[in-house]
Amino acid sequence: MLRTHNCGELRINDTGKEVVLCGWLQRSRDLGGMTFIDLRDRFGTTQLAFNMETDAGLCKQAREFGREYVLQVSGVVTERSNKNPKMPTGDIEIIVSGITVLNKAQTPPFTIEEDTDGGDELRMKYRYLDIRRDTVRRNLELRHKMALETRKYLHGMDFIEVETPVLIKSTPEGARDFVVPSRVHPGEFYALPQSPQTFKQLLMVGGIDRYFQIVKCFRDEDLRADRQPEFTQIDCEMSFVTRDDVLETFEGLARHLFREVKGIEGIEFDRMSYRDAIQYYGSDKPDTRFGMRFVELSDLASGKGFRVFDSAELVAGICAGGCAGYTRKQLDSLTEWVQRPQIGAKGLVYVKCNEDGSFKSSVDKFFDQQQLGAWAEAFGAEPGDLLLIIAGEASATRRALGELRLEMGRLLGLRDPEKFSCLWVTDFPLLEWDEETGRYYAMHHPFTSPVKEDISLLETNPGNVRANAYDMVINGVEIGGGSIRIFDRPLQEKMFEVLGFTPDEARKQFGFLMNAFQYGAPPHGGVAFGFDRWCALFGGSETIRDYIAFPKNNAGRDVMIDTPSSIDHTQLNELHLRITGGSKEQAG
Ligand code: AMO
Repeated sequence: MLRTHNCGELRINDTGKEVVLCGWLQRSRDLGGMTFIDLRDRFGTTQLAFNMETDAGLCKQAREFGREYVLQVSGVVTERSNKNPKMPTGDIEIIVSGITVLNKAQTPPFTIEEDTDGGDELRMKYRYLDIRRDTVRRNLELRHKMALETRKYLHGMDFIEVETPVLIKSTPEGARDFVVPSRVHPGEFYALPQSPQTFKQLLMVGGIDRYFQIVKCFRDEDLRADRQPEFTQIDCEMSFVTRDDVLETFEGLARHLFREVKGIEGIEFDRMSYRDAIQYYGSDKPDTRFGMRFVELSDLASGKGFRVFDSAELVAGICAGGCAGYTRKQLDSLTEWVQRPQIGAKGLVYVKCNEDGSFKSSVDKFFDQQQLGAWAEAFGAEPGDLLLIIAGEASATRRALGELRLEMGRLLGLRDPEKFSCLWVTDFPLLEWDEETGRYYAMHHPFTSPVKEDISLLETNPGNVRANAYDMVINGVEIGGGSIRIFDRPLQEKMFEVLGFTPDEARKQFGFLMNAFQYGAPPHGGVAFGFDRWCALFGGSETIRDYIAFPKNNAGRDVMIDTPSSIDHTQLNELHLRITGGSKEQAG
């Protein structure tokens, strides 16, 4: 080893020890008679001291070093006269007797400090320097701990980790695939897995019984703060289980992670049907850290001559506690906020429940005090509260109100990142109708089993069939999703038929799975968690990029290695590809 200790471990009871440390020069201070250097490694920072009087040569040498020089120093651990209680090593310093420059460094393009002056793009270009910052290192350490504890828990529950292939087959369902052209099979392509879904089901047919994998998945979809083109799942599957067995097993995983990683005990899970989630929160992933459930006012508010309400499919609102004092300006800005195209409401009606028991609303012309009082009662509102109401087409109104609810939660400080509210959303619809293509799509994926009682509806009313599917939602983030699977060929064939596949297409795409079902497939079900999302949630951030060592930017680029990038003609030829107008096209 080039060192005896790391830069974070020396304490007052090490005084007198001869040590050798290695690390990066964080900063140096020249005080004339003394020069101090903070030496940093992954484990911490230790102060080095150079004395002009006792060793002028060494001291002068030390003054020449720039930031991020890689140094090896030897010296004696000494008690500091000026202790720094903020640093774990702040009671001591090293009186340096020897120093070797292991490597020089150019001045870094941004400061490697907790609060850096580097913008996003610059930090991503020099991500290896960004990773030297405590913040990023802590995030990667959190991620490591999450992976380790996940493996410990699942191993303890008899799951085994099995790797599944990365070069697989493109399928038309789900998001877009990333594809890889084959050199030896002209005109043919592999696809990168969007998830190991079919393989984990085949592992169940193979009798593995309990499988998991911390695995990279790839989806060519629009990127957001919580979406990367390559991301990691904790992917799991179990045989001979019911839905509740799966939910309980993975509540156990969540409890384990909360306890071991966050130090939080006693996490409880609520369950909510998809219908209730949409009706009361306007979202299939409600943030239940706070209430503000929707109250529907259609019966009370329509037919009173206010055209907006009379013509609306739904009139619904939320009650913002203690907000009756909102000024005109605040209400106007909320109205503008809901009218933004991303939210899409036509307008916002308010009712202030005044402290004196009277009401003041933006629709006083149409509704008297008694009527407004009846609304307030429907909301269970107290004097001092503010009702915010949106009207229009039902699903658009719920979506907009859901966004407004989240915004009010944020404004009122009800979305504390250190408070956790966990739930399972269950009973999703099996199918979603798409107007554009005039067909049904599987809401989760085509392998999800319908709820038993609804199977007969597949023939008559597919849109009303409920799926035996569930999502884990924590603080309004979809952390994971899964389902009990179809495990017999006829039902799987029926499902593909409903999804508009001809029998031939279904066989071509998924024949391997349906064949496997004929050789004794056990009943099975599972779930996959967005590992990056879970890390970000535990780290208190909404951006999963912060928890990925080398992420892509919002345009899907890695600006450090500069990819995607073009490839040369020889390579293109070998792959039987030709470029036309900036896009690659198969030459065949
Ligand atoms: P699903 O598509 O719901 O299910 O994905 C599971 C979880 O993965 C996370 N996730 C993502 N995270 C980051 N970037 C993305 N682009 C991204 N896409 C998804 C989410 C999501 O809940 N095979 C099924 C699971 C199953 O049925 O067992 C599947 O992949 O947190």
